[in-house]
Amino acid sequence: MTDALHRDLLALAQEAARRAGELLRDGRPADLAVAKTKSSPIDVVTEMDIAAEKLITDLISGRRPDDGFLGEEGASVEGTSGIRWVIDPLDGTVNYLYGLPTWAVSIAAEQDGETVVGVVAAPMRGETYHAVRGGGAWATGAWEGERALACRPAPPLDQALVSTGFNYVTEVRTHQAGIAARLIPVLRDIRRGGSAAIDLCDVACGRLDGYYERGLNAWDYAAGDLIAREAGALTGGRPGERPSRELTVAGAPGVFEPLQGLLEDFGAWHD
Ligand code: IPD
Ligand code: CA
Ligand code: CA
Repeated sequence: MTDALHRDLLALAQEAARRAGELLRDGRPADLAVAKTKSSPIDVVTEMDIAAEKLITDLISGRRPDDGFLGEEGASVEGTSGIRWVIDPLDGTVNYLYGLPTWAVSIAAEQDGETVVGVVAAPMRGETYHAVRGGGAWATGAWEGERALACRPAPPLDQALVSTGFNYVTEVRTHQAGIAARLIPVLRDIRRGGSAAIDLCDVACGRLDGYYERGLNAWDYAAGDLIAREAGALTGGRPGERPSRELTVAGAPGVFEPLQGLLEDFGAWHD
């Protein structure tokens, strides 16, 4: 019963992510402008973020009217079925605004508070990543069928390629830059891709050894966190905790632990 339910949730999340991805890719106006700002003047929303969230919530609530929703652009419904959808309709909005390709649609389904399904569609890569709890992580793309995802065997930390992100709030991003400056000498290098969901999937794909960021919301990491874990990565927040707004860390076993330890020592979670 649970397996059948999870399969249904996965199929619905894949359909919603595919349709929203097509809308964003094919419907991006040439003169795309900022519709409003949120936490700071650089935290922008476009008409396309809003349209994509509406497409996703309309599709899912039409099929499953009793489910709850948490969406970045305002979807907030309690629900009565025990299933809640956690949605970032466009992760990487600044990249999208500028015409850079690293953006994604991120959709997770939680059952009684646990993420059971995650789908991240990256249309400009032609790839979609997905996982069902306990069922491994997978990618679909231009190739035939599904490809199993596995995180990279851990290199020594000084050869690890680690991605991060910077918050939209000036004081937070300035503190984050200080942490990155302390990490740079002990890592291979740092990347800043611009989409937390894709960063987590890149850990799952073995394209990054690790990832960390402070200040994320559940919609940024819910789907990517499950995909990374199902690909064999470890994820968490501060030591012993789950990923949270305070800190999100992911990495291959062997990279995750020392990275999380350094982030704790450096005080990456606070000002
Ligand atoms: C942002 C991206 C970015 C991360 C920010 C997020 P948005 O999401 O994931 O990589 O650094 O913290 O807020 O605003 O593009 O949906
Ligand atoms: Ca986001
Ligand atoms: Ca977003």
